[in-house]
Amino acid sequence: MAASHVHRRPWLLLLVVGLFGSAVSADEHEPANPGSADTEACLSCHGSDGSSLAPILEGQDEAYLNQQIARFRDHARQSFPMDALTQGLDDKTIATLSRELASRRWPSPRSESGPAEPAVAATDDIDLSVCAECHGKRLMGRSGIPRLAGQRSPYLMQQLEAIADERRPHPGDVGKSPPWSRSQTRALAQALEMEL
Ligand code: HEC
Ligand code: HEC
Repeated sequence: MAASHVHRRPWLLLLVVGLFGSAVSADEHEPANPGSADTEACLSCHGSDGSSLAPILEGQDEAYLNQQIARFRDHARQSFPMDALTQGLDDKTIATLSRELASRRWPSPRSESGPAEPAVAATDDIDLSVCAECHGKRLMGRSGIPRLAGQRSPYLMQQLEAIADERRPHPGDVGKSPPWSRSQTRALAQALEMEL
């Protein structure tokens, strides 16, 4: 029973793991300070050993990171666990965290997410050059707009669904007209992860 309970609430598990991870490092190095610009605590979920549903932040556009962290804090973007984790961060700390994360190198793709040719075929109808108009050349992001190329596909899939359902604001009619099927959305997420 306990196991299925956890399974239905993956964030709870993530939160516990994340908080436990940062508590351990705080014990070892310095007093716990929830308002501090400790990117290591962030990377316990967002780093290469983290969760596939936590997006890559290292090398992401700085202005975009800054804006999204502030939105989590201000409850303008709903997310468990990020809304809880950002309470108490002031603007200066958010700016420092964003600068530090953006200055790092984007991690190389995970080896287990090998190329999936059917995914590419399923996205034939989707014109990625439209996305590049905003998301930048080769979808590498630009000021205030996130990099999509190489982002984790489970995270991207979730965001694409949130965008299509209007749970997350996004310019234009992405995923709505024509509406994408679930398999098309998954295929698109995989294609983006492969840095098309
Ligand atoms: C317990 C795990 C966990 C920890 C620790 C954590 N995050 Fe997150 N973060 C997530 C998850 C999961 C998401 C995806 C949220 C969603 O689905 O909207 C996320 C999303 C984000 C995003 C959105 C990125 C994008 O591409 O839109 C930013 C920015 C972010 N986190 C910053 C941080 C920072 C900064 C820290 C450290 C202060 C941090 N996170 C710590 C789990 C975590
Ligand atoms: C008119 C400009 C524009 C176009 C065209 C556009 N986007 Fe976006 N996209 C944005 C902006 C701005 C954001 C950040 C939204 C926010 O503020 O939360 C975004 C965010 C996203 C995100 C969330 C990424 C993350 O890290 O959380 C995804 C996924 C995405 N766009 C996919 C697409 C795809 C796929 C296309 C093409 C079919 C596309 N977008 C076309 C402007 C655009």
